[in-house]
Formats: sequence, C-alpha cells, structure tokens
Amino acid sequence: MPSYDTFSNIYDSTVELVYKKYRSQVAEQLHLKPNAVVLDLACGTGPNHPHLLERMSGTGLIIAVDYSAGMIERARKKAQRNGWNNIVFIQQDANQLSLQDIENAVGRPVQIDSVVVTLGLSVIPNWQDVFAATFGLLVPGGRYVIFDIHTTHWVPQTWLVKVLAQADTYRQSWKALEACSEDFTFEYLPGSAHVHGGRPFVAVGQKPAV
Ligand SMILES: C[S@@+](CC[C@H](N)C(=O)[O-])C[C@H]1O[C@@H](n2cnc3c(N)ncnc32)[C@H](O)[C@@H]1O
Repeated sequence: MPSYDTFSNIYDSTVELVYKKYRSQVAEQLHLKPNAVVLDLACGTGPNHPHLLERMSGTGLIIAVDYSAGMIERARKKAQRNGWNNIVFIQQDANQLSLQDIENAVGRPVQIDSVVVTLGLSVIPNWQDVFAATFGLLVPGGRYVIFDIHTTHWVPQTWLVKVLAQADTYRQSWKALEACSEDFTFEYLPGSAHVHGGRPFVAVGQKPAV
C-alpha cells in the first residue's frame, strides 16, 4: 500500500486533526471491559489506541491490523513511546486475515470480544468479504463498530477524499452489519460534507448469541 506509506508521514498532522474529536465517542460504543480483546481493523497510525486502552483500564489486548508498513510503523512507535505494551501489530492485507494469523502473532489462542473499523471499510478493496470474515471472528455477543463517511450528495471534497485517501464514501457498509447483527444502531454524527466529503456516521451491532 505505497500511497498510505507516504500518507503516514502527514496523517496525524492533517486527517487526524479533523477526526480526533470522534474517537472517544466511537470507542465508547464498544462497551469495553478490562481484559477485553479488541481487533482494530485498518488501524492506520493508531489514533484509536489511547481511547481503547483507557476504556480497558490499560489491560486487555488490542490486535492492530493494517496493510501499510508506513502506517503500522507509526502506530508501533507511538505505542513504544507511550509504553502501551498490550498491542500486537500485524502488517497484513485484511483480505487475507485469519484467526490463525492473529493467534500466531499473539502467541496464544484468542477470542475477539470487539471489532472496531474507523475510516477503513470505505478504503479496503473487497470490503464486504473483509467485513464478513471479521464479523465471523467475533465471539457471540461481541460488538462490531464502524465509523466512516457516507456521501449522499457529491461535493468537491468527495472527489478529494477519493483521490487522497482512496476512499469510496458511497459505500453503505453499515447495511452489511445491520443484516447480521442484533441491537443494531446507526447514527450520523455532526460534521460537514464540505470537510469530510460526506456525513460521518457510527454504526454498532452485536453478534447474536448462539
Ligand atoms: C483512512 S485510513 C484510516 C486509518 C485509521 N483507522 C483511522 O481511523 O484513522 C485507511 C487505512 O486502511 C488501510 N488499508 C487499506 N486497505 C487495507 C487492506 N486491504 N488491509 C488492511 N488495511 C488496509 C490503509 O493502510 C490505511 O491505514
């Protein structure tokens, strides 16, 4: 993922300035408990990590997956600087990710309690397959949270986001979550299409208990 490798150099000082106000609210939706295991899919430079760790009282485990070496290296360095020892980084195409890969990286069997994907499903090719596979990794009763942008009306920023971030903001990823989860909720969050290229939203679903 060469362009995200380059993008990683400026991501936190550009894109993240616009999105950091949403992080806490998104993390809150995961209902994390101490010792939870959470998959941060397409984790980028790791902007969700302090918010996830805060809600797990510094315990538990974050499995941080991203295809871009540059993005994940930034996230790894941030974790080192802050002494966040309970994050396992996996540089991998989410299309290929399996529980075996995760357990190999963690070094033990794991159960995934929650999945969070922020600004990821609009970017990942074959996002439907990736969504289905990662929803499949969740324990019954586990929560899946999507934060992303949805374009209802084209504005110049829609094109900008497409070109710079390779994001298809016309995707309606929450519909895939709604179709397979219970206690589904969807909410547009405050934010202008002239900033984001569409409307920010958060969608939450719980995997039905078997
Ligand atoms: C817009 S960034 C979002 C990063 C972070 N989640 C955030 O909220 O800021 C999109 C991320 O998706 C990652 N990505 C794109 N395609 C991917 C794939 N096939 N597998 C894993 N990560 C991918 C990129 O490398 C990039 O870090």
